[in-house]
Amino acid sequence: MPVELESLLMESRVFDSPQAFREHATIRDANIWKESDREFEDFWARWATELSWFRKWDRVLDWKAPNARWFVGGRLNASVNCLDRHLTTPRRTKAALIWEGEPGERRTLTYWDLYRQVLRFANALKALGVKRQDRVAIYLPMVPELVVAMLACARIGAVHSVVFAGFSAEALKDRIQDSSACLLITADASYRRGRLIPLKRFADEAVAQCPSIRRVVVFKRSGMEIEFSAKRDLWWHELMRETACECPPEEMDAEDTLYILYTSGTTGKPKGIVHTTGGYLTGVTATTQWVFDLKENDVYWCTADIGWVTGHSYVVYGPLACGATVVMYEGAPDWPDRGRFWKMVEEHGVSVFYTAPTAIRSFMKWGAEWPERHDLSSLRLLGTVGEPINPEAWVWYYKAIGREQCPIVDTWWQTETGMIMITPLPGITRMKPGSVTRPFPGIRAELLNVKGERVEEGGGYLAITRPWPAMLRSIYGDHDRYVKEYWSKWKGDIYFPGDGAKRDRDGDFWILGRVDDVLNVAGHRIGTMEVESALVDHPRVAEAAVVTRPHDVKGEAIVAFVTLKEGGEHNDHLSGEIREHVAKKIGAFARPEEVIFSHDLPKTRSGKIMRRLLRDIAAGKVLGDTTTLADPVVVAELKERYEAQYGA
Ligand code: WT7
Repeated sequence: MPVELESLLMESRVFDSPQAFREHATIRDANIWKESDREFEDFWARWATELSWFRKWDRVLDWKAPNARWFVGGRLNASVNCLDRHLTTPRRTKAALIWEGEPGERRTLTYWDLYRQVLRFANALKALGVKRQDRVAIYLPMVPELVVAMLACARIGAVHSVVFAGFSAEALKDRIQDSSACLLITADASYRRGRLIPLKRFADEAVAQCPSIRRVVVFKRSGMEIEFSAKRDLWWHELMRETACECPPEEMDAEDTLYILYTSGTTGKPKGIVHTTGGYLTGVTATTQWVFDLKENDVYWCTADIGWVTGHSYVVYGPLACGATVVMYEGAPDWPDRGRFWKMVEEHGVSVFYTAPTAIRSFMKWGAEWPERHDLSSLRLLGTVGEPINPEAWVWYYKAIGREQCPIVDTWWQTETGMIMITPLPGITRMKPGSVTRPFPGIRAELLNVKGERVEEGGGYLAITRPWPAMLRSIYGDHDRYVKEYWSKWKGDIYFPGDGAKRDRDGDFWILGRVDDVLNVAGHRIGTMEVESALVDHPRVAEAAVVTRPHDVKGEAIVAFVTLKEGGEHNDHLSGEIREHVAKKIGAFARPEEVIFSHDLPKTRSGKIMRRLLRDIAAGKVLGDTTTLADPVVVAELKERYEAQYGA
């Protein structure tokens, strides 16, 4: 269940964008929705024209549902659009990346610096035999080299598959195997709350089971001692020393794959979401400019890790294509203390700040005294993404961080959509705490019921009823699953994102959360099945069911119901061991908050686990109808166990 659903549904406050902001906003004319809706292909074509193309497209869109081709026949290169084309302008010496390491060191790369690094690394990749459309896996912390590696892949037409550095060795292995990547780029270690996380060790573990990987490039982040295979491994800095700084870009088809990014679905197997080049760059450029009201002298900071789609679209491709100055931070928000983010906002003069509700709820819990110690007057726009934001957190963000001077853009989108889809336009939209308001111009979103009928007001399933340029094109290696999961709920030309939503009287959207077996914990998407498979992988576990309960910081917290194999004794130690097992299999962010043991799980007579009941137990709610249960006693027992362990 999403955060504080009830209070969200009763929320009636509205906030106009501050007058001073509106006066200078890029988009001030509300006719933009009507105009873009009427001729949406022209609308997107105008955005595409802002990019730099080797060859112009012949047709804007080929749409044979559910397969879209955007800017058909056009040829371009993403790295040229993020780098080369800025070099003939004053942006040449503008800061592209302002980076802070967790321990406190700083590096600033101008567009020219970044360009040179990308070209050299692109040559290194070529020398290692990486070819057009080969897959390159990247498992790096938040360091500038991560951006360099991605753009270098783009330069030579290779497909990057970035794996969040918080994922386990096993999760990395699965993703490399699925994409059959030929090369892995990693680091010796990464910093987290002052500790070193041994990334290279995880990478070694993964690569041992990945025959497709020929070479491993290692960036030296910390100097931590690592095992180094003389045959397979190469140091980043040594490669860079030897390569030339000249590398003509590959001319890519608009529909060539730019990257694959794995996300969770309803089965245990992650989906490699495929994004292409022309439409994707068009979509992220348009949204970066209009949603963030980007100006030439903005200092833009999206706090997301590049390992997730938010980082791909709104740390790397969107802002760099727009020539922005991007702040990038390596570590935790509470290191060395809870004022780190606000110290950075002050010292770098951040003007646009984009983060997740889970972070905002942490800040709120830590107290306004932390931001109060810093001068945040450089901020002019705030954003949020990843999960529903409860109105209390929204208002706190507005006051304590925005000083009631900054509009907040609550942006709804997904790994699959590639770009922001439903959002306020900060110069026009009347904001409502908890509402993502309305579709971005050119986007058509609606609420439908099960039968596919439109819901004008009230609750329903969110649906996207027209193709959009940054849309996913497939699931890597499994086009059938693409068709089945996204385009088969209604007629074949309607996209189903998997979210439930509500529409109010004004037509504004309120996202209620996932309606499938996908969890959203602290803004991270995790499949129920993935956690359950990790649980039953533990030698003592016979059966497991996973649900979430509301959590005041993470939004949702994972509760695992577990049945042990014959003769199993359960205790706190075992519970800890099982939680660790999940962290090891998937990553620490998927570690269950609680483990409840039971001799059986509540099932229907046909044997289906009744998750709704488990959810009620985990949320401490009164139990609903249990008459269809195979064994109603199980539920009573579980509830008792839960209350004994964790209180009602
Ligand atoms: C799911 C997508 C898109 C970047 C981060 C997550 C939820 C996303 C919002 C929002 C309410 C939101 C949805 C969506 N979600 N943004 N502003 N309000 N819910 O990407 O991992 O692909 O997850 O996140 O449930 O389906 P993702």
